[in-house]
Amino acid sequence: MNWKRWFSRPETPRLTPELRARIQSSFDRAAGDEEHFPSTIDPRIYHVKLIRQHLGDLSGKRVLDVGCGKGRFARVFHEQEPEAELWGLDISEEMLRFVPQDIQTRAGSMTELPFETGCFDAAYATESLEHAVEIEKAVSEICRVVKPGGRIAIIDKNAEHWGKLETPEWERWFTRQELERLLARHCRQVSSRFISYWEDVEPDGLFLAWLAVK
Ligand SMILES: C[S@@+](CC[C@H](N)C(=O)[O-])C[C@H]1O[C@@H](n2cnc3c(N)ncnc32)[C@H](O)[C@@H]1O
Repeated sequence: MNWKRWFSRPETPRLTPELRARIQSSFDRAAGDEEHFPSTIDPRIYHVKLIRQHLGDLSGKRVLDVGCGKGRFARVFHEQEPEAELWGLDISEEMLRFVPQDIQTRAGSMTELPFETGCFDAAYATESLEHAVEIEKAVSEICRVVKPGGRIAIIDKNAEHWGKLETPEWERWFTRQELERLLARHCRQVSSRFISYWEDVEPDGLFLAWLAVK
């Protein structure tokens, strides 16, 4: 028995180059699956409305969609506010091919965002932080690129419902407190709430939204 290993704290998961390549190629392949990874979203869905509400007036603002996939949220926000400058970042170049031309894209990992500190007015991540592996680093990076006073929204799944859906081995879900704590290291206001797809449907606890002001 290796007692030292037995008593030591569990190691923080690492986004090694091998794991990163595996995640990337998994999402590159998934890009062809429009049913499960759609390029559009109904703007009436509460996930869209809540982010929009939290971000406020987007006119003339630079906004980053972190782990944007095919850019379905950014597409809606750009349609609603053509004067906003929308950016989408994703690890999968195949996903990025679907992002509309008027949204700027960058391939990369949210754990090391290829952007200057404080260069966005706002950032949001929908069902993508759960794939970041190095969660603390990703949260810190998202907060870094947003300017003081800027808004941040994260939508992901609730750790208390873990097992409800099939997940790849690197995926992680979060408790309310866990992400609140990470965001609070960088943001002056942080809250979280349960949400469902439709505003008038009682949330079943699967989805959580974390809203922050840096
Ligand atoms: C479930 S999809 C969600 C996409 C999009 N946010 C949406 O709601 O349609 C997860 C996305 O996160 C991306 N992703 C996974 N790990 C990432 C990382 N470390 N950095 C950036 N994007 C990542 C994947 O390529 C994929 O497009």
